Amino acid sequence: MFSRILRRPALAIVISLLILFLGGLSIATMPISQFPDVAPVVVMVILDDFGLEAGLQWLAESFSQRTRLGVDLQASGIGRYSDGTETHLFRIAQEAFTNILRHAAARAVKVRLHSDGQRIVLHIEDDGRGLGPAAEGPTRPPSLGMTGIRARARQCGGDIEISPVSPHGLRLVVTVPARAPEAGPA
Ligand SMILES: Nc1ncnc2c1ncn2[C@@H]1O[C@H](COP(=O)(O)OP(=O)(O)O)[C@@H](O)[C@H]1O
Ligand SMILES: [Mg+2]
Repeated sequence: MFSRILRRPALAIVISLLILFLGGLSIATMPISQFPDVAPVVVMVILDDFGLEAGLQWLAESFSQRTRLGVDLQASGIGRYSDGTETHLFRIAQEAFTNILRHAAARAVKVRLHSDGQRIVLHIEDDGRGLGPAAEGPTRPPSLGMTGIRARARQCGGDIEISPVSPHGLRLVVTVPARAPEAGPA
């Protein structure tokens, strides 16, 4: 329901102003740690109104600013896809970025998003330490991040491939069908 409201730019602006106004009443006395996190709303609006490519651009820029890692994003042939496909691919990229920050000790990240009209391929590659034996060992409990990434890709009818990058790093390639957006309310 909320995403339907945010699909209407005028309503979204009014709601945003209202939130800002109400927030402004208490924000002056609020400790910085309690400031509301507006990122989820921003993500929803960007994905709903502008699509996956814009969402990934926002993600890449904010990640790069926050971490000082270089992020090179290139996209081609990208249109609009079903809400599910756009959201799942965005969340997959978010988890991959989190992993790069947590585990990779990388200096740079390469993101490629392209579509031939039939399939969408999202490719995220870092130049970090790659998957060590610790990540693959039999004693390691199943990890939620990678499991979630695979589950999201499968939910879209696709799958993922993980491979090492030479001389070091990790590559995640997600391939899913390019599903058209569902018809929304007029
Ligand atoms: N980009 C990466 N570079 C190096 N290791 C990675 C990367 N992404 C994931 N890993 C490894 O794969 C493991 C599983 O990742 P994940 O399922 O997201 O679990 P978590 O991040 O909670 O440890 C991580 O613990 C880490 O060892
Ligand atoms: Mg993780």
